[in-house]
Formats: sequence, C-alpha cells, structure tokens
Amino acid sequence: MTTTTTDQTRPDAVHLTAGGVSLLLDLADGRLPAVVHWGAALGDLDGQEARALTAAAVQPVVNNEVDVAARLALLPEHHTGWVGRPGLSGSRQGRDWSPLFTVVDVSLDAAGGGSLDGTLLTAGAGTLTVEARDEVAALTLLLEVELGEGGLLRLRGALTNDGDEPYDLDELSLALPVPPRAREVLDLAGRWGKERTPQRRELVVGQHLREGRKGRTGSDASTVLSVVVPGTGFARGEAWGLHVGFSGDHRAYAERTSGGAQVVGGGELLLPGEVRLARDETYRGPWLYASYGDGLDEQARRFHRWIRSRPQHPRSPRPVTINVWEAVYFDHDLARLTDLADRAAALGVERYVLDDGWFQGRRDDTAGLGDWVVDADVWPDGLGPIVDHVTGLGMQFGLWFEPEMVNEDSDLARAHPDWILQAGGRLPVRSRNQQVLDLGRPEAYEHVLGQMSAILGAYDISYVKWDHNRDLVDAGGVGGAPGVHRQTLATYRLMDELKARFPGLEIESCSSGGARVDLGVLERTDRVWVSDCIDPLDRQQMMRWTEQLLPPELLGAHVASGRNHITGRRHDLAFRAGTAVFGHFGIEWDLAEATDDESEQLHRWIELHRRHRALLHSGDVVRLDEHDPALWVHGVVATDRSEALFALATMGRSEVSPLGRFVLRGLDPERRYVVEPVAVGGTAEQGRPPHWYGGTFSGRALEVAGLQAPDLLPEQVLLLEVRAV
Ligand code: GLA
Repeated sequence: MTTTTTDQTRPDAVHLTAGGVSLLLDLADGRLPAVVHWGAALGDLDGQEARALTAAAVQPVVNNEVDVAARLALLPEHHTGWVGRPGLSGSRQGRDWSPLFTVVDVSLDAAGGGSLDGTLLTAGAGTLTVEARDEVAALTLLLEVELGEGGLLRLRGALTNDGDEPYDLDELSLALPVPPRAREVLDLAGRWGKERTPQRRELVVGQHLREGRKGRTGSDASTVLSVVVPGTGFARGEAWGLHVGFSGDHRAYAERTSGGAQVVGGGELLLPGEVRLARDETYRGPWLYASYGDGLDEQARRFHRWIRSRPQHPRSPRPVTINVWEAVYFDHDLARLTDLADRAAALGVERYVLDDGWFQGRRDDTAGLGDWVVDADVWPDGLGPIVDHVTGLGMQFGLWFEPEMVNEDSDLARAHPDWILQAGGRLPVRSRNQQVLDLGRPEAYEHVLGQMSAILGAYDISYVKWDHNRDLVDAGGVGGAPGVHRQTLATYRLMDELKARFPGLEIESCSSGGARVDLGVLERTDRVWVSDCIDPLDRQQMMRWTEQLLPPELLGAHVASGRNHITGRRHDLAFRAGTAVFGHFGIEWDLAEATDDESEQLHRWIELHRRHRALLHSGDVVRLDEHDPALWVHGVVATDRSEALFALATMGRSEVSPLGRFVLRGLDPERRYVVEPVAVGGTAEQGRPPHWYGGTFSGRALEVAGLQAPDLLPEQVLLLEVRAV
C-alpha cells in the first residue's frame, strides 16, 4: 500500500525497520533525507524520541568550520558546508554545479502503508520515494530507498534536467554515514584466476576509493566494501557494507573527513560527456545495496536472503553441470564430445555446456568472435547431432557465447570495422586478441540479437554461458565519444530481450572467469562463474569471499582434473570435490582421462551433492573465524536448524599438531545433533578417527565447547553431516 504525503502531512522523519535493522531518516524542513541511524534495530520509536535522536545526531559547530552543522544527506550536498565527496557533480557549462534540493514529494510503499505519529512516519519493510527539486539549477532528483524484509537496504538516485540547456552529469553518488567506532575498511581485491581476495586496513582521513574503469565489473572489484569495527570477524563485530549493482564502470568508496564524519558511498563512474541530459531527460543510477551486520556472516545473510526473495531467483534444483572447456578446449570433435556426454550422463550429470570453439572460424582464440553461426568445417551437420545426443541422454544443453566481443579476423569486423568501440580514430590495444563490439549501435545490437536468436531458436538450448573476456579500453562509440555507459545498458537489454524471447533460458555470467559478479548482471542471469582457477586451495578462498555477496547456488563450482591447469598444483579428488560440492556443482575435466576409481568417486560426489543440494542452496552460510590459518571451517545450516553440512578444510600446515578444538555455529542451542563424517573414497584423517564421530551434542555445546579437529593431511576436506535428533 502506498502512502503519499501532502505539504501538510509530510513527515519530518521516517523510520523503516525490518529484519533486525533500522533506518531512521531526517527529512525536516524540506531537506534531502539524511541518515540519523542505519544499523541495529532501534525498537519502537515515537515521534518525540525520533526528534530527540535526530537532534542528538547533529554535530556541534566547531571553530573555523561553517556556522551551522554541515548536513550529510543520502546525496551529500556541498551547499550545506559538506566538503567531503559531493553526491552530484555536473554543470551547464560551469553553472548549476552546486544544487540545493528541496523535497516536493514523499511517498512510502509498504505493507499497511506505514503509520504517522506526529511528524514521524514508521513502517516495516518498504520503499520510500523522495522527489526533490532545485528551481534555480532546474534539476529534479528522485531518491528511492528500500528496506527489505531481511534488513537489506537498497537505494538509487535519478536526476532529471528541467532546464532548456543540456546538463552534463559527471557523477551521481549516494552515501551512507557509518559511526566513528567503525575504523577499518574491509573490501575485496583480486585478479584473473584469483578473484575476491580480502584486504583490510585502517580508515584514515581521506578516501579509500575503488574505481572500476574496465568497462566490466572487474576481477578486482571491491564487491562489498565495508567499514567495520576493528576485530570484526564472521561471527561478531559490526560491519556496514556497500555493493554497487552495476557491470560497467563504477565506484565505491569509504571516506573519513577531518570533520569526523565517515561514509560508505558509490555509484556509476561516468566518463567525460557520457551523460548529457537534454530537457526532461533522466539519468538513473544503479542500485546500491547496503548491508549492516553484526558479524560478516550476518551481513552476507542479509544479501543472500534478499537475493533469494527475488522473483527471478532460480528455484529449480541447480543441475549438476559438465562444461567441456578444460576437457577439450578448442578441439571440437563430435565423437569425442558425444563420448564425453555419455560418460557425464552415466555419472549423473544434468547439464552439458559446449564451450568456446563451435562457431565460424574459431579454431583458437585469434579469430571468429562476432560470427555467431555454426562452423561448417567442424560441425558439418550443425549442432543438431550433439544437442540431440545430449538431450537424448536427459541432460540440458548449454552453449557458450561472447556477445559483446569481436575478433578483427571475423566476417563481422571485415564488413563493419567501424562497429568496434574505439577512440581517436585508432583501434584500442588488443586483449586476448580481441576487440569490443559497440552494442550501443543499433545495427551491431541487432546483428548479435539476430544471430544468437537464430541459434537459440534452431536448437533445444536452455542455457547460455555468456562470456566477456577483456577490459574495455578506449571504448568510444559513434564519433569516438565514451561508450561504456551505453554498452553496459545495451548488454543488459540484450540479455533481457533474449530471456523474453526464450522463456526459461538460463544465463551464466562469466568474464575471464569471475570478472562480472554483481547484482546488476544478476538481475538477468542465473549464476556466475567464480573463476577460471578451479584449484581447490584458491577456490576455498574465492568461495568464502564471493559468498560475502552471493549465496552458494549462484556460484559455478566445478571439479577439474587432478593437476590444475592454472596453478599446476595437484590435489586429491576429495579436496577438489569437497570444495566444489557447496556451490552450483559441476565437472570440467576430460572424463576419458579419469580412472575407473576416479569416475566411481565422482559419481558418489554427485550423489552426495544431489542429496544435500536442497539444504546447501537454501540454508544459511556459516564461516567460522579460524583459530589457526591452517584450518578453515565453513558450512550451511538449514533455515529451520534441523540439519547442516560443514566442511573442515586444511589450508596448510600449522606449527602445532593436532590443531585443537573447532566450533560449529548457527545451530539451535536448545536442540541436540548427531555429528558424523561423510567419507567419499576413503578417509581424510591420518591415524585413528576421533572418539566423537557419531556423537550427539547440543547446538550450544557445539558452539561454545567444540570438537577436536581430526589429524588431517594438508589440503584436504572433511565433511560433517549434522542432523537434529
Ligand atoms: C574464458 C572463460 C572460460 C572459457 C574460455 C573460453 O576464459 O572464463 O571458462 O569459457 O573463456 O575461451
């Protein structure tokens, strides 16, 4: 139900509270909403208390600063005396660059419509929409602030030009204050083959600025940029984090000013001239997702619950997948590929994905991108024989595309060299021998849409692995003007259109592995490829930290051959599979090379995954703070606390042995559980198994007292099934 306010009933303050989180906003005197509190729930507040809290949040005026307390709104405004990063940068040739917005409309969409106590509007989960105008600068700002049932906050801003002269927008960022006790920044870095590695440091005066200028999310994206109380871990410690849900250039930052204010903020990163608003034109920024948690697990859970509540969230059991890339690379041979399909189906695989190499001229990575027609030399009878074979075995068929890319050695580039994104009349540096197609150009967009639709329409294809293997450099569109913004939106449109044309089609977001992992692309895709590196030692880390944003069912996690293709390291099958089993499970291995024993073990791992899949893909992720870096413990606990699957992963060798007691968290303290190891293909422990195997313990005892870690070899996983009795 929507409550629309009038001048007389406009609230001075809005309190949204849901899922253990409160957002209290001050809107007095027609000013833009400013956060009085974002964090743990405040409980019931009446109008008088809200006023008192708002007053209590106003900073004292100190010497040599402006004579009124600078006010930090969701869109930080310079005119108030705020000299941190402004929310809006833009001008009409140097004018109208420091707007003063006055609220003209406030509406709330919430169950029951919210209740008004004096000038305080209170609601549970809901969306607050605030429209504000600056008559002098001729600009209208629309802010949307949504608190989800589980306490996740989303916000975005839109700017409309009300003037006759065009308005050049350089930046529209929104920011949320965080309290001064949060003195550390924790976010993620990464590179190809090692995505989402955590980094942490003190938040000092200045900005911790993470700019994505790669035209894609980036393997180095901050993903979730948090400001935390020192010492914060998975279990405890307050964390305020922000994710920018956008797949193009973007920015996320944490800032501490000399005035003592601290914020997390972000938005799209616009290149020069990318957004020039004509009269009545609107720019809408991407959604920013903000999650508060007491402990990083709680922060992650708010993301997970919200993601799972979306109507488009995949709800069917995630099919066990084989991707043929590391099995055959570019060596497409029908006999070999059907044999692989037979072997996969026999093991219980449910989806078969034909990777790069099927289309015209694509014998290696130097040619072919842009020509999305089946290669007649390699596939003389088209894809029919392989698609029919795979679907005949009861598996779904998936196909690889890289729709935004083009090789100079392709029919497309030869016919339309001007469709390549470029600036300054010269081609950008190549990356993986390829260039980027300007999808912002309608003809190029139609070309790709047409060719992809023809393939998807001709065969029974229910899954697309959508790749994006290079950064955008010098990405100028028509006339050389920066084209990243347009490109990103065109890609979204293309995905949306294909999904509309082919109902039920699932899309995987892949980008040189895991370089497009964000909630913008995930509005229209169904899983991400976490990384090209399937080495389980690295994957433990990448799964652990990708889960700061995404639930496990969205994380493509495969078992590869014994010797990893990127790191060259060898690992036992039990470590490879025991690592992948938590995600969207699959295989990326030439099964013809697997021994009978390996195939048998793989079969049993698939069975184990399928047995636990419903739990793993709906439960709460729990990561234990390690007492020894050699031992990582993580798991998934059913939301009704009836069962759990935990993993003990030995990440190295400690200076002590044995490793001592570990604890399990997230179970019901009042219930009793049987804890049993699951062994697939032999046991991971050395010597005699611990006495506690098969024992019964209360959830409380498991959390506060714990169990002795068995003596495990390094780089092994031991799985523990935990069942309530
Ligand atoms: C990227 C992907 C891989 C594979 C290759 C194919 O690197 O991340 O999984 O699809 O492209 O060229």
